Amino acid sequence: MNNRTFTMIKPDAMNNGFAGAILDRIIQEGYRFRAMKMTKLTPEKAAEFYAIHKDRPFFADLVEFMCKGPIIAAILEKENAVTDFRKLIGATDPARADNGTIRKLYANSVGENAIHGSDSDENAKMEGDFMFSVLEQF
Ligand code: RTP
Ligand code: MG
Repeated sequence: MNNRTFTMIKPDAMNNGFAGAILDRIIQEGYRFRAMKMTKLTPEKAAEFYAIHKDRPFFADLVEFMCKGPIIAAILEKENAVTDFRKLIGATDPARADNGTIRKLYANSVGENAIHGSDSDENAKMEGDFMFSVLEQF
């Protein structure tokens, strides 16, 4: 595989008016949209999505933050999608992210960091299927 990843524009970036700029940047970088929707996570869905972090001290804040407002979820296609997209979004903490990355440009803190990107092909597939039915994936 290695050609699809999954992303979410998080509530902070949506609320700060950066969704359009972020989507434009993703297109400019050569990704094709294979699914996309604006939606709002429930606490149950956010907790399930980030279940791997359930024992971390920041888990409750993370779940609360992800439900604060709408998000845009998408499945993206490009060669080396997972690896390249993680480079495009930058480090988890925007203060440590490289210049020009989406988190450097549009995020303010490690807790509210503008965008999600899958960290492996397996998770990309799982996360895409978690958010989109088969009929919603092109
Ligand atoms: P993501 O899954 O959202 O793409 O982020 P990531 O891989 O870069 O980072 P990860 O370790 O998976 O953490 C998931 C999200 O939890 C929040 N977080 N807060 N306060 C903190 O120290 C802390 N650490 C992580 C962030 O929103 C992070 O994106
Ligand atoms: Mg992660």
